[in-house]
Amino acid sequence: MEIDPVNVSEFQELAKQALPKMYYDYISGGAEDQFTLKENIEAFQRIMLRPRVLVDVSKIDMSTTLLGYDMSSPIMVAPTGAQKLAHPEGELVTAKAAAACNTIMVLSFSSSYTIEEVASTCNAIRFFQLYIFKRRDISAKLVQRAESNGFRAIVLTVDTPRLGRREADIKNKMIAPKISNLEGLLSLDVDAEGGSNLEAFASETLDPSLSWKDIGWIKSITNLPILVKGILTAEDATKAVEAGVSGIVVSNHGARQLDYAPATISVLEEVVKAVSGAVPVLFDGGVRRGTDVFKALALGAKAVMIGRPVVYGLAAKGEYGVRRVIEMLQNELELTMALAGCPSIKDITRNHIWTKHNRL
Ligand code: FNR
Repeated sequence: MEIDPVNVSEFQELAKQALPKMYYDYISGGAEDQFTLKENIEAFQRIMLRPRVLVDVSKIDMSTTLLGYDMSSPIMVAPTGAQKLAHPEGELVTAKAAAACNTIMVLSFSSSYTIEEVASTCNAIRFFQLYIFKRRDISAKLVQRAESNGFRAIVLTVDTPRLGRREADIKNKMIAPKISNLEGLLSLDVDAEGGSNLEAFASETLDPSLSWKDIGWIKSITNLPILVKGILTAEDATKAVEAGVSGIVVSNHGARQLDYAPATISVLEEVVKAVSGAVPVLFDGGVRRGTDVFKALALGAKAVMIGRPVVYGLAAKGEYGVRRVIEMLQNELELTMALAGCPSIKDITRNHIWTKHNRL
C-alpha cells in the first residue's frame, strides 16, 4: 500500500521516487554550491519560539486578507514554472487544489498551461507572475491576457536579469520546457549543442536592462496592483515603495539564482522595517513546516508562499498531493499557534520568537 505522507519532507521523498532524475534535480536544485539552498532551511532552524501559556486557544483563526482578498490562512502558492514536468495536468490541478484550500495561487509566466486554460479550471483569486522580455510587446500581451482572464495582481520577478547557474541542469542536459503562454508570441530555436539550453533561452529572451524606471511602464499598461518579487535588502525595499508598488515579496528565487545571497528569513525583518507598513511584505524560501510560517509572520510577513513543497505534492499525488501539502502546513500552523498562545494571526508578534544573540 502506498504511504500517505505526514509532512513535506515525506512528499519530497515520494516525488524523488516518482520523477526522472533530470526533472527531480531541476525542481529541487539550487545555484552553484547550493549554499543559499541549504541556508534557506538552516536559517529557520536557528530561530526558536517563545510560547506564551494560559492564553485561551480554544478557537484558532488563521484567516487573513491580502490586497483586500480573503484567504483561509497566510499560506499561498508560489509561481513555479513548467509543472507538466511534475505531473501531466500540472498547473490545472495546482489551481484547483489552491482554490479548494481557499488560498491564492500565483501562476508562473513559464506555465505549461496557458493563462486561459488555468483561468477556466475554476473560480478563484489568482495572481500572475511576470518576467519582462526584451520584446516588451510579449510581456505586455501576457499582462493584458492575465487581466482579462480575471487575475487580480501582477507579481513582477526582479531577481532574474539572467538565469542562475544550476549545475545539475547543465550536467543533465536539461532542455527548456515549452512555455504554453508564449505560443504564437515567440518562435525561438535555442540550440542546446548537446548541453542544457535553459541559460541560452533565458539570455535570449529576458531583458537584463530592466530597472526601477520600468515599474512606471508596467503600471502604465495595467490597472492591476503590482508586487515585486525578489527583494532582499532594505535599500531595494525602499525603492520599491517609492516606485509605487502594491506589495513586496522577499525571495531569493528558492536559491536558484544568486548563490550566497542570504537566506530569506535572515533579511525579512530588515525589509519589513524599511517598508514600515506602507505595503504588505510577502515571503518565500525554505518554508517546510507550520513553525516556519509562524516564524515568518513573527518577523512581519503578511503571508508566505511555498514553491517546491507544492511541486513535490503534485509529482507524488497530483491534485490530492498539492491539497494535502497546503492542508498539512495549515494544520501545522494551527497547532503552532495554539501551543504558542496565539489565537489569531494578529496575535503573532516578534516577541514570540527568539534568536541567538538576536541575530538572524
Ligand atoms: C521556481 N521559482 C519561480 N519564480 C518565479 O518568479 N517564476 C518562475 O517561473 C519560477 N519557477 C520555479 C520553478 C521551480 C521548479 C522552483 C523550485 C522555483 C521560484 C519560486 O517562485 C519561489 O521563489 C521558491 O520556490 C520559494 O522557495 P521554496 O519554497 O521552493 O523553498
